[in-house]
Amino acid sequence: MPTQSLPHATMQAVCYTQPGAAEVMHLESLPVPQPGRGEVLVRVLAAGVNRPDLMQRQGLYPPPPGANPRLGLEVAGEVIATGPALEGQHMPALGSRVCALANGGGYATYCLVPAGQCLPWPEGFDAIQAAALPETYFTVWSNLFMPTIMAPGTRVLIHGGASGIGTTAIQLVKAFGGHPFATAGSTEKCALCTSLGAKAINYKEEDFAERLHTLTQGRGVNLILDMIGGAYLDRNLKSLSPDGRLVIIALQGGAKAEKADLARIMTRRLTVTGSTLRARDATAKGRIARQLQEHVWPLLAEGQVRPLIHAVFPLSQVVAAHKALEEGQHCGKIILVPDHTQ
Ligand SMILES: NC(=O)c1ccc[n+]([C@@H]2O[C@H](COP(=O)([O-])OP(=O)(O)OC[C@H]3O[C@@H](n4cnc5c(N)ncnc54)[C@H](OP(=O)(O)O)[C@@H]3O)[C@@H](O)[C@H]2O)c1
Repeated sequence: MPTQSLPHATMQAVCYTQPGAAEVMHLESLPVPQPGRGEVLVRVLAAGVNRPDLMQRQGLYPPPPGANPRLGLEVAGEVIATGPALEGQHMPALGSRVCALANGGGYATYCLVPAGQCLPWPEGFDAIQAAALPETYFTVWSNLFMPTIMAPGTRVLIHGGASGIGTTAIQLVKAFGGHPFATAGSTEKCALCTSLGAKAINYKEEDFAERLHTLTQGRGVNLILDMIGGAYLDRNLKSLSPDGRLVIIALQGGAKAEKADLARIMTRRLTVTGSTLRARDATAKGRIARQLQEHVWPLLAEGQVRPLIHAVFPLSQVVAAHKALEEGQHCGKIILVPDHTQ
């Protein structure tokens, strides 16, 4: 049973009844949920918008069984109630400020999150910066740095280098002594990738695999973070050096590959893998959180890596926020804040 009384009985939350265009979303007044075992209730001060949210809203990325079906995968805010701890579990203190990977429901003024998915709010960060961290840092860390932290000198190709995921990946690869290469679709986005420390390739103007071949003196890269899938599979395989690893985290270019030379997997001993963060269980997400706290949170505190914020919208303008991400002109993250903090 929760031990704290809540300040409000109701909250504002983004809802929709049928999947579809951004306009299906609207604000509703709903009861503030009570935290269950192992959960905390966060008063949301900011929430991140991610491409998986757009896909969920369109009906293309259903929430996994048991997850909160409402939108919003990351929040920053204040812990205002806690449920009973799981055995041996450390619960964030009441009143502490956290950023957290949510299992849905972040587009609201209150959000329940599993305690193990909370991380401290980095010192010197505001709510907007703190909310920009969980989804991209959990995704990039778990796919590029687990199970083994990359060795210095590792050459890494990051597709979509100017995205929320891409800007995080470039900085983390750089911070751990790797050599990031990034694709992006405009001169401005390439300039941003370069400013973060990557060698940028404008994939709309040149063949990324050919350019990468030149940039790496024919050696290729050791690791690829891919969000395109089918359309890039053959060129990704071609771009990997022996024992290289391709990690697929999205399929913007389709789930099927027309042609791909699979002989390269054998002759160069390549690994092709991938993951979706939301479907992973609380234990796995908790493990990622603890590694982030140990290895990455100090870098955030030192300013060695940072979230890039493109735009901030009030929760009541969630439709405009989704349209901005859909248009694709952004670099970095789009964030929602409750209307009263605007
Ligand atoms: N598997 C997981 O657990 C997981 C978790 C979070 C996110 N994701 C995925 O990761 C991707 C990035 O997420 P986000 O929230 O950061 O979204 P975002 O900011 O909207 O990023 C999408 C990016 O895709 C790039 N892109 C599109 N077509 C491209 C192509 N042909 N070649 C290279 N880049 C291309 C775009 O770059 P340009 O505008 O430069 O073309 C854009 O920067 C999304 O696909 C999302 O679904 C996966």
